[in-house]
Amino acid sequence: MFTSKLPAVGTTIFTTMSQLAVQTGAINLSQGFPDFDGPEALREALARHVAAGHNQYAPMTGLPALREQIALKIERLYGRNVSADSEVTVTPGATQAIFCAIQALIHPGDEAIVFDPCYDSYDPSVTLAGGRCIHVPLAAGDFAIDWQCLEAALSPRTRLIVLNTPHNPSGALISRDELDRLAALIRERDIYIVSDEVYEHLVFDGRQHASVLAHDELYARAFVVSSFGKTYHVTGWKTGYVVAPPALSAELRKVHQYVSFCGVTPLQYALADFMAACPEHVSELPAFYQAKRDLFCDLLAGSRFTFTRTPGTYFQLADYSAIRPDLDDVAMAQWLTREHGVAAIPVSVFSERPDPSQRLVRFCFAKREDTLRQAAEKLSAI
Ligand SMILES: Cc1ncc(COP(=O)(O)O)c(C=O)c1O
Repeated sequence: MFTSKLPAVGTTIFTTMSQLAVQTGAINLSQGFPDFDGPEALREALARHVAAGHNQYAPMTGLPALREQIALKIERLYGRNVSADSEVTVTPGATQAIFCAIQALIHPGDEAIVFDPCYDSYDPSVTLAGGRCIHVPLAAGDFAIDWQCLEAALSPRTRLIVLNTPHNPSGALISRDELDRLAALIRERDIYIVSDEVYEHLVFDGRQHASVLAHDELYARAFVVSSFGKTYHVTGWKTGYVVAPPALSAELRKVHQYVSFCGVTPLQYALADFMAACPEHVSELPAFYQAKRDLFCDLLAGSRFTFTRTPGTYFQLADYSAIRPDLDDVAMAQWLTREHGVAAIPVSVFSERPDPSQRLVRFCFAKREDTLRQAAEKLSAI
């Protein structure tokens, strides 16, 4: 008998809902990816670099030109001067960066704290490292850190706290004050941070993203992760990066070099070119996605869904209590897909112990205007 190392893990809800959307011909607002393409100049740069023969292994830590661009961006946005050589590592996707950081940190018996609801890769990564994931629920309603719950979850075995801001699925942002409070809480303890900031540029209504990169005390013990897939509308490129102080980066690289060794070479050339040529792309993203959020929310305003406009990410939560309070959210997501032609993600799947009374689904609004209009029309007719 084969003994699974991940007995509780099955096919993810993202695969399930995307498959159901394809089978039923529903509009897919479930999995988080755009239905429009990345910038033309970026795609052209990729074609150019493939044609130019940039098709062999990249350096293990990432193409120097790309790491340099990442360091420049970090200095511009967060005021931190990081070393492109010793603090920036390019990875095949943010998920791989998170996995490597967790493998580097967690020893058998260690505990890692994650805040529920949370992205689904954290827990299996901790389990595979031989650690135990402690799921601390975020506050109901605004998805803020519940400090009492967090303090109660800390133990002498706690080695890692995983942050995610802006937060998937809620869009909630961690504030600078909360980062200060966290720093004070772990000051005397041997605890590290993985800060998943893949939606760092998707922050709305004039708010600022409070990055761990801008926080001296937390950065000293952090791995900060981002994703080019999210930032450049190319999720299928699966390219991301992780920034950490030199000693932590060195440990992360020991894992990364045996998980994948390096990221995809021509993608890195293309991203480096595009970042150098279009630094304004990232500062234009908030307005770009805020317009999509507002279009979607304005169109849903007359529906029976209730919601508060998301402050970040490209996800909008919606409460369906007024529509089918009898359905749990998994059944609701399936009902929406099969009967009303719009696929969504149930929020309960992001939690170890979901609140059974919660009636929330997540819609992805990284879609073309006509897709959002068609989806909103269907949702408003329910
Ligand atoms: C919170 C969060 N972290 C990480 C990722 C994965 O990023 P990547 O596709 O670069 O692995 C996602 C993608 O949905 C996400 O929502």
